[in-house]
Amino acid sequence: MQDIEYIKKYGNKDEFEKNLKRLDAGEPVQYIVGNVNFYGFTFKVDKRVLIPRFETEELIEKTLRYIDKDKELEIIDLGTGSGCIAITLKKLLPNSKVTAYDISPDALEVAISNARLNNVDVTFINQSMENINGSYDLIISNPPYIAHNEFVEEVVKNNEPSIALYADNNGLYFYETILKQALKHLNKDGVIAFEIGQTQASRIVELIKVYLPNWQYKIIKDLSGLDRIMIIKEKFDK
Ligand SMILES: C[S@@+](CC[C@H](N)C(=O)[O-])C[C@H]1O[C@@H](n2cnc3c(N)ncnc32)[C@H](O)[C@@H]1O
Repeated sequence: MQDIEYIKKYGNKDEFEKNLKRLDAGEPVQYIVGNVNFYGFTFKVDKRVLIPRFETEELIEKTLRYIDKDKELEIIDLGTGSGCIAITLKKLLPNSKVTAYDISPDALEVAISNARLNNVDVTFINQSMENINGSYDLIISNPPYIAHNEFVEEVVKNNEPSIALYADNNGLYFYETILKQALKHLNKDGVIAFEIGQTQASRIVELIKVYLPNWQYKIIKDLSGLDRIMIIKEKFDK
């Protein structure tokens, strides 16, 4: 039993030592601390979900430029993980109706607690993005996109859920899955917004030509100058 004044000042020593051991074993600091700041909001994270990345904040920021923020938008986030995209969009666009799918019930538990923490109403559904229902003004996704033979840093490979990382067909499986269904599930003037792997843009363009012929797209660089965001629309007005 530790002295109460010591705990107040330095925290619980056993807890501290346990966390140091986790850090030493290579666990990401975000899982140890248990939360991250994303777009100015707090999200709980643990091993059940991908740690939200800076590029994903940029995906949201860029997407906002291409949607009509004055409309009551129907939005779907495919592969929601911690819920960071869906919840942030609902915070920024409170009149929108946001739905989010994830195939992992574990991830959805985290997302639901994050919606509660951020005091927003998002409809979370334990469903595969292979079966989209409904129609939307915005389909947004940061799907798993790492090819099975691609190099992945040890810290990621050993800690983050593999279901959040890897995709068949050279990492393109989920882009194709979504693009294949998009026409049926997008409202007029609807937008698709993807976070993409830095070498995938041209191959995703080929998929757009197959499933959404004559649709337009913008490939947007992140702050590091890499092609990491793709916005797709029948016709851009800006
Ligand atoms: C790259 S993570 C993105 C998480 C979060 N949206 C973010 O940006 O931090 C991809 C997510 O897709 C989910 N996922 C994998 N396969 C799926 C599928 N077939 N249908 C729906 N979600 C899937 C994973 O469980 C994971 O949460």
